[in-house]
Amino acid sequence: MVAIDRRAFIAGIGGAAAVAAMDSEAKADALEEYLDDQLETAVAAKQPETAKKFPTVAELDAQIETRTFRRGVGSLFAGGSKVKRLTAMPEKPTLLDYFNLRRAPANHVLQSAALAKKNGLSEEIVLACLLHDVVQSLIKTDHGWWGAQLFEPYVPEKTSFAIRHHQTLRFYEDKEAGYVYPDLYRNMFGVDYVPPPHIQANYTFLKNHKWYLYPRQVTVNDLYAFDPNAKVSVEPFIDIIGRHFKQPKEGLGNDNSPVAHMWRSMTRPDSPL
Ligand SMILES: [Fe+2]
Ligand SMILES: [Fe+2]
Repeated sequence: MVAIDRRAFIAGIGGAAAVAAMDSEAKADALEEYLDDQLETAVAAKQPETAKKFPTVAELDAQIETRTFRRGVGSLFAGGSKVKRLTAMPEKPTLLDYFNLRRAPANHVLQSAALAKKNGLSEEIVLACLLHDVVQSLIKTDHGWWGAQLFEPYVPEKTSFAIRHHQTLRFYEDKEAGYVYPDLYRNMFGVDYVPPPHIQANYTFLKNHKWYLYPRQVTVNDLYAFDPNAKVSVEPFIDIIGRHFKQPKEGLGNDNSPVAHMWRSMTRPDSPL
């Protein structure tokens, strides 16, 4: 039987205010989710210690010259062994076309958004969760800033703020808000990693910001979003996209916005220049 830590449970679903906004069905769902998660943690704790060996920064650094690509490159541009031929995009591409035809890493963001919706977060933050890592198709380095820029002309300010700053807040634990530093990052960045000065400075800025909670909510719903068995689709979010995403009538990439070229690069990643 898994014990319930009431404080951690409430923090995990976004705090007392989020709980107050949930109906009883949503609360029951959140509790079930919490228990599943506790169970997984309990099972993981029983694994031998050797299963939790993380690389150091120096060990990850030594891998650089073993690769034919750099870690920051977008997933549309560097696949496993060989890239696949892409389906042509329609003449006036919509956000949904990018989800359907240039998808990576859609599974992860769909799971994050589904969790945020289940936890009763605002539509602007559900949208932020849906879009928070989409730019990783194009570029992974500094993806919070690239991602916010990619969506800024089309989404509410709260949404782009949450996308931009989730990158920084993922490096900083906030147990009260329900965010524990992830083992995933110990593996990706090294167990002894220290974020660079621009991330540290951004964290200082965010700590006192009135919108701190928005990117924090993305990180809280991001962390548990890697379930290989979850069935997710963009369908449940079409209404939210319709209400909050200003789809340009000419199509993304054709609207002469300051970021149109970024969308075009995802439309034609095989173009040599
Ligand atoms: Fe991210
Ligand atoms: Fe993420």
